[in-house]
Amino acid sequence: MATVAPACRRRNESFRIHEDAPSTEDTEMNENLQDEEDREDDDGEEDDENTAEEQYPESEYSESSDEDVVLDSNISHDMERLQDSFPGFRSKYRLIKRIGEGTFSTVYKAEDLQYDRYDNSWDMEKENEKWTPPPLKSLSSQDGHQRRRKPKYVAIKKIYVTSSPTRILNELELLHDLRDCANVCPLITAFRATDQVVAVLPYFRHADFREYFRKMTVLDMSIYLRSLFTALASVHRVGILHRDIKPTNFLYDPETRRGVLVDFGLAEREGSDCKPCMCHDDHAARKARLRAAAERTTMVTANGAIGYPKQDTRPSRRANRAGTRGFRAPEVLFKCTEQTTKIDIWSVGVILLTILSRRFPFFNSADDVEAMIEIATIFGREKMKQAGRLHGCVFETSIPTIGSHGFKLDKIILWSTCRSDAGEKLSDDEEQAIKFLERCLELDPAKRISAEQALDHEFLRMGMDSSMEGTGDAAEDDEMDMLRV
Ligand SMILES: Nc1ncnc2c1ncn2[C@@H]1O[C@H](COP(=O)(O)OP(=O)(O)OP(=O)(O)O)[C@@H](O)[C@H]1O
Ligand SMILES: [Mg+2]
Ligand SMILES: [Zn+2]
Repeated sequence: MATVAPACRRRNESFRIHEDAPSTEDTEMNENLQDEEDREDDDGEEDDENTAEEQYPESEYSESSDEDVVLDSNISHDMERLQDSFPGFRSKYRLIKRIGEGTFSTVYKAEDLQYDRYDNSWDMEKENEKWTPPPLKSLSSQDGHQRRRKPKYVAIKKIYVTSSPTRILNELELLHDLRDCANVCPLITAFRATDQVVAVLPYFRHADFREYFRKMTVLDMSIYLRSLFTALASVHRVGILHRDIKPTNFLYDPETRRGVLVDFGLAEREGSDCKPCMCHDDHAARKARLRAAAERTTMVTANGAIGYPKQDTRPSRRANRAGTRGFRAPEVLFKCTEQTTKIDIWSVGVILLTILSRRFPFFNSADDVEAMIEIATIFGREKMKQAGRLHGCVFETSIPTIGSHGFKLDKIILWSTCRSDAGEKLSDDEEQAIKFLERCLELDPAKRISAEQALDHEFLRMGMDSSMEGTGDAAEDDEMDMLRV
């Protein structure tokens, strides 16, 4: 059996996937694990009193507490197979539990058993000066206690074998390029065995967005968004679009108030696979192009009525629409062929709208047309038409609930938080947050705030001084533990 190539864990090394010789086991296909039968064990290994998770209970978050992990038999079976697919896997990582199941991958929490053998510049905890790890796994101290290093956890992302190799390579390459970006979860290493690729990332403790977003104060929102915009500013600075900004892709720990951006599965470099769109033209050029487009089209009849031509011979418009329903920017819905990093800003706007309105999901469309209707309901027909025209599209609707001018965002927030009838007002802080929200939810991407500008905005400055508050307790958790021998 072939051994696993040494992991690429040092900075300044060029990126490569560590390819293993094919194992005798077939790698598995993307299975839907729905078996109800639970098993009273985690990874099948015996947990003695030295079990890392018992010594260092992590937090009250249900996902972080591994002591009472009850694994579905299918999950344990999956974990076994993953460990068997890669020679030497068990000596490197101890799989603990499944922590995520997305569209493109299953993610497991694991203990990094060979942490001490490598340069761990990815380790965010290590950089926390309150805790200095010893060089060896255990140190004997004079009083008969044994000091043991806090176990180090990683997230192992098993990318479904049905994903295209180009897509997988794209994700890993971008992650490698972004390794030094603040608030972006770095890639530690990656392995491949036949068609199975796994990416190894530092495990980041986080809470489920649905559990905390309703409790967030405006200051909490500012701190949360400062962290997210810090990530985006560094990602955008190098010309990368994330394309899938949503709460599950921004792992946030409300206790330490730290967050990291994950999931670059749909990310792309700005300008790749792009065709000029008139939204990038200056005003005169755009007018000329619109006129030419109107002449070509049969959409507007002689009497001014608008409709679909019976035999539409126009080539269909193609553009990257990758992303998640409800978080797609209007230019994505209008199939803009020259999308920019501003698409991510819109998605952050949707997150902020969700938090302020205390409603998740805020947008709940079945498809792109419904998504346009939802956006048009808020912003009104006129602005939506204008937004379409930017990209050479005609937006028309006769839906009676879509008014011509829509609603102001402060009204939406008051309604959704059931405060409009009582005549309640928004707090000053909320108003400031809404002003910022308006800058994120600009229909015209050129007018929308950039991540860099956002960091300078009054609203995000609000949380600047307080963002380090509350980190003390979590840092204390990182102290080395004393074990009786
Ligand atoms: N580094 C990490 N630390 C802790 N948990 C993680 C980490 N990376 C991913 N996860 C968990 O796994 C989930 C899925 O990860 P990711 O978004 O990378 O996969 P995906 O298959 O692309 O997901 P989706 O299609 O849902 O966006 C995350 O929402 C998170 O809960
Ligand atoms: Mg994801
Ligand atoms: Zn465009």
